[in-house]
Amino acid sequence: MNKPIVSFVLLLLFSCNLVHGEDPYINYEWKVTYGTLSPLGVPQQVILINGEFPGPKINCTSNNNIVVNVVNQLDEPFLITWKGIQQRKNSWQDGTLGTNCPIPPGKNFTYRFQVKDQIGSYYYHPTTALHRAVGGYGPLTIHSRALIPVPFNPPADDFTVLVSDWYAKTHKTLKGLLDTGRSLGRPDGIVINGKSGKGDGKDAPMFTLVKGKTYRFRFCNVGMKDTINVRFQGHTMKLVEMEGSHTVQNMYEMLDLHLGQCLSVLINADQNPKDYYLVATSRFTKESHFATATLRYVNGVGGAAPLEKKEAPKGWEWSLNQFNSFRWNLTASSARPNPQGSYHYGQINITRTIRLVSTDGVVNGKQRYAINGVSHTDPETPIKLAQYYGVADKVFKYGLCKDEYMPPNGNEVITIAPNVVNVTYRNFVEIIFENHEKSVQSWQLDGFNFFADRTGEMRQNYNLLDAVSRSTIQVYPNSWAAIMTTFDNAGVWNLRSNALEKQYLGHQLYLSVNAPNTSLKDEYNMPDNELLCGIINGLPRPKPYAI
Ligand SMILES: *[C@@H]1O[C@H](CO)[C@@H](O)[C@H](O)[C@H]1NC(C)=O
Ligand SMILES: *[C@@H]1O[C@H](CO)[C@@H](O)[C@H](O)[C@H]1NC(C)=O
Ligand SMILES: *[C@@H]1O[C@H](CO)[C@@H](O)[C@H](O)[C@H]1NC(C)=O
Ligand SMILES: *[C@@H]1O[C@H](CO)[C@@H](O)[C@H](O)[C@H]1NC(C)=O
Ligand SMILES: *[C@@H]1O[C@H](CO)[C@@H](O)[C@H](O)[C@H]1NC(C)=O
Ligand SMILES: *[C@@H]1O[C@H](CO)[C@@H](O)[C@H](O)[C@H]1NC(C)=O
Repeated sequence: MNKPIVSFVLLLLFSCNLVHGEDPYINYEWKVTYGTLSPLGVPQQVILINGEFPGPKINCTSNNNIVVNVVNQLDEPFLITWKGIQQRKNSWQDGTLGTNCPIPPGKNFTYRFQVKDQIGSYYYHPTTALHRAVGGYGPLTIHSRALIPVPFNPPADDFTVLVSDWYAKTHKTLKGLLDTGRSLGRPDGIVINGKSGKGDGKDAPMFTLVKGKTYRFRFCNVGMKDTINVRFQGHTMKLVEMEGSHTVQNMYEMLDLHLGQCLSVLINADQNPKDYYLVATSRFTKESHFATATLRYVNGVGGAAPLEKKEAPKGWEWSLNQFNSFRWNLTASSARPNPQGSYHYGQINITRTIRLVSTDGVVNGKQRYAINGVSHTDPETPIKLAQYYGVADKVFKYGLCKDEYMPPNGNEVITIAPNVVNVTYRNFVEIIFENHEKSVQSWQLDGFNFFADRTGEMRQNYNLLDAVSRSTIQVYPNSWAAIMTTFDNAGVWNLRSNALEKQYLGHQLYLSVNAPNTSLKDEYNMPDNELLCGIINGLPRPKPYAI
């Protein structure tokens, strides 16, 4: 079933946790299977959803209730996360290995969540093993509600563009490399919506434009290793949105998309009617890959011009300057995440600063990545469930990762363990990421949007006015980045590197945010259909939260 079924259902029919009046329900039924496709021109195994790669688009409107029944027809446990969707009071649906048991082969799990007070461009992706290296991802678009003004005219069409670096290997081969202490190495190419045109005029058009109209393109870098630069031949881009925030509408000839980042631009189809390429090029690598997708003007005459050698300047200074040009449009009305939507975040006193230093090293002959000396490993019992069932002490220790990184006697020691950091409910916290590596990092925080402040600046130079509220931040080599957010969303939330290899080998942690007296005002109950695994399997179900 590829088309979503939109239905308005009486609340009474649902015994679930979503007590939100008559916001519409959108139901999806997804079968996850292996398939064979040739993203780089060579047949290989990929992961399909309902036979599609990329997977079906979730197309919804702010406050819609989304119901997705994921049927795992792979031969391995599988789980999906909805990246950037805040899951307010509902970390039960976040789909990370710290919040949910993976769906066993041949079984299903029905996710139920509301896209509360959010708009914008997002995507979903697998969180198990290295599945996302070979697909299982797709776009998730949230439109503004009918009465909420959008700061630009409705575009003639709305395209999603998922760009990614790509390995021509199976996920089992890739996982085998990491499990035996080796590296994934360099990707083999780049794909745009699962295809890799080479600018030779041979590919079918991916996008069709009518001269004189304006189009919205929603880009996400769903890749594993590389920043990807995107540009259109002959057309400049007007930046309008990033991960749910309307931005100041500056024009760009090319844009850097770091791992995990999404943004949307408007393009005026105002050129000579013919074909043009959209070009995606990997950045900050010795040998860069590229892929093209063709834009075709209706009734246009002629193929795209040969690809000109046009790349963003080498080095990351250009990219940093571009980042610093991104501004939140404070006057554009839209659904805003609470209460980070506060315009006045710069006036809130920071109650805690957590400085996260990323390191890496070899442990027992294998490469690991650590945050403040702790290299995360997922316990068999998800952290959220261990906490809920009152058996956290049997599964993990809180606070192995301190707010400041202090290597014992100056010696870096890497501890492999579940990495769980407590955060006080509703505190306004600053998190600083320090990158001592040679490559650009990109971090993702689930459950919250944060103010992604200037990177590598002194605190007195922070942008305390109009930093873009979003959920990913890049950190340049030998640099740092600061984010600020109010931890007002109770639950257990993953903070992870968007670089798949580093994330798999330990670059992640969980923030545990608990309301002092758990009640339904702060957090939903564990859903009835929760999958159980590990030591909680068979334990009596805890008493539900009080109203
Ligand atoms: C997506 O949703 C929007 C708003 O509800 C609607 O206008 C549009 O037609 C939908 N697009 C698709 C492809 O279903
Ligand atoms: C599996 O799907 C069925 C309906 O198709 C649903 O009733 C059931 O709750 C699902 N299982 C889980 C664990 O969500
Ligand atoms: C911000 O949004 C407002 C309201 O829609 C719009 O009028 C204005 O042009 C936008 N400002 C910029 C700088 O993009
Ligand atoms: C922040 O701290 C300053 C100095 O301690 C204090 O004067 C101010 O009232 C505080 N602001 C808020 C919003 O709590
Ligand atoms: C962290 O929070 C949990 C649950 O709220 C609590 O039981 C534990 O004692 C806290 N640990 C630390 C080190 O603060
Ligand atoms: C939490 O519950 C305790 C005991 O029932 C009560 O004394 C306290 O006021 C409550 N605190 C909050 C913040 O509601």
